[in-house]
Amino acid sequence: MSNLCVIGLQWGDEAKGKLVDLLTERFQIVVRYQGGANAGHTVVAGSETYKLHLIPSGILNPQATNVVAPGVVVHPATLLREIHGLEERGVDVAGHLRLSERAHVVLPWHVEEDRIANETEPGEESIGTTLRGIGPCYRDKVGRRYALRLGDLLRDDFEERVHQICKFKKRYLSEFSEYPVELDADQIIRDYGTMGQELSAMIGDTNTFLLDAAESGQSILFEGAQGALLDVDHGTFPYVTSSNSSGVGVCSGSGLPPRFIHQVIGVAKCYSTRVGGGPFPTEQDNETGEHIRQLGKEFGTTTGRPRRCGWFDAVAVRYTARLSGVDRLSMMMLDVLSELDEIRICVAYEIDGRQIDDFPSHVEDLRKVRPVYETLPGWQTDITGVRSLEDLPANAVAYVQRISQLVGRPVEVISVGPDRTQTIFCNEMLSVV
Ligand code: IMP
Repeated sequence: MSNLCVIGLQWGDEAKGKLVDLLTERFQIVVRYQGGANAGHTVVAGSETYKLHLIPSGILNPQATNVVAPGVVVHPATLLREIHGLEERGVDVAGHLRLSERAHVVLPWHVEEDRIANETEPGEESIGTTLRGIGPCYRDKVGRRYALRLGDLLRDDFEERVHQICKFKKRYLSEFSEYPVELDADQIIRDYGTMGQELSAMIGDTNTFLLDAAESGQSILFEGAQGALLDVDHGTFPYVTSSNSSGVGVCSGSGLPPRFIHQVIGVAKCYSTRVGGGPFPTEQDNETGEHIRQLGKEFGTTTGRPRRCGWFDAVAVRYTARLSGVDRLSMMMLDVLSELDEIRICVAYEIDGRQIDDFPSHVEDLRKVRPVYETLPGWQTDITGVRSLEDLPANAVAYVQRISQLVGRPVEVISVGPDRTQTIFCNEMLSVV
């Protein structure tokens, strides 16, 4: 059986949780390999809605083992809240979750640093982070000296390390913060020590576990968080997250080499959204954007912030589909567009009087581009009850087909609502490529 990655191809929030949930029953292991509690995955199963931040969506499949791999940054309190919430609803978490001792820990100073870093000078555009301490935690990981990993919470020198790091962080933070920064090392030791103990049975060497599993042919599903345009190296830098959220991050984050990645499904919404700052060429800061926001319930799972909404950007998604090695597409939230008379797709950009098809690498160039649109007729029919390609209105099929053509990948799945059942599997892959 082959291993599969699910990668978001836009700026996150592509409804990957729903797809992963649909796929998990085919896999023995589900791996989360980057990001942290900045992510928010919503899974709707029957009348139950689950909002997950750190735990892989595979936790709802009682057969699967779920792994939080080394590339994730873990906020233990959020993780425990999630575990308790799931257990209260009858989900057996402890027996199905493994946490890498190599995964870095988000500590109180990281959240403070995130707040300070988000304060901007007048006129400056903020990255608009989720304020979960994600960037500062990754910064300390790369800086090495002031970092703690999950396994460190259980080691003899844990107290000493916290005292040492706290001393430095207090000095460092008071320099930049306008407010006094309270960091009580003893309290942090008590809190994180207790949480470490509570999680200890799940903490271990996931690298060996995954290598053994992959080498013995077990099936693995890799669940990406955020979207490829937020990739720290390949996205719309600096308006990105701090991890490799495109397909290229799977190996470094999980600890499994490329030979164990067999297929990649790219997930995209049938329109675009973005939270936080940064250029967004097809943004519709108008009635259309508001219409999409209301119908798509485009408010952040993690922060509740209204998401910026706009037309589908085929230039951006073609780039991220190539970057992530995508084999097939899963097109989400087609139903949200059902009431529109006309729908636009950005097919190219215009910059300095030239037309380009490639996604610019510099954010200032991306700010300057003007989208070149193609306009397609809408379908004005409720499609939330449609379950097969034949029953979709012809204009809806034509819209998805055009996306497939522009992105250069076949479409395998179309989602027409949040529930598991509101999904169309295109038997004959919907493709003109
Ligand atoms: P950070 O990841 O909290 O540092 O935020 C950096 C940027 O990534 C901000 O624009 C966030 O809004 C965005 N971001 C982070 N996580 C997500 C996500 O799961 N969905 C959408 N945007 C995200």
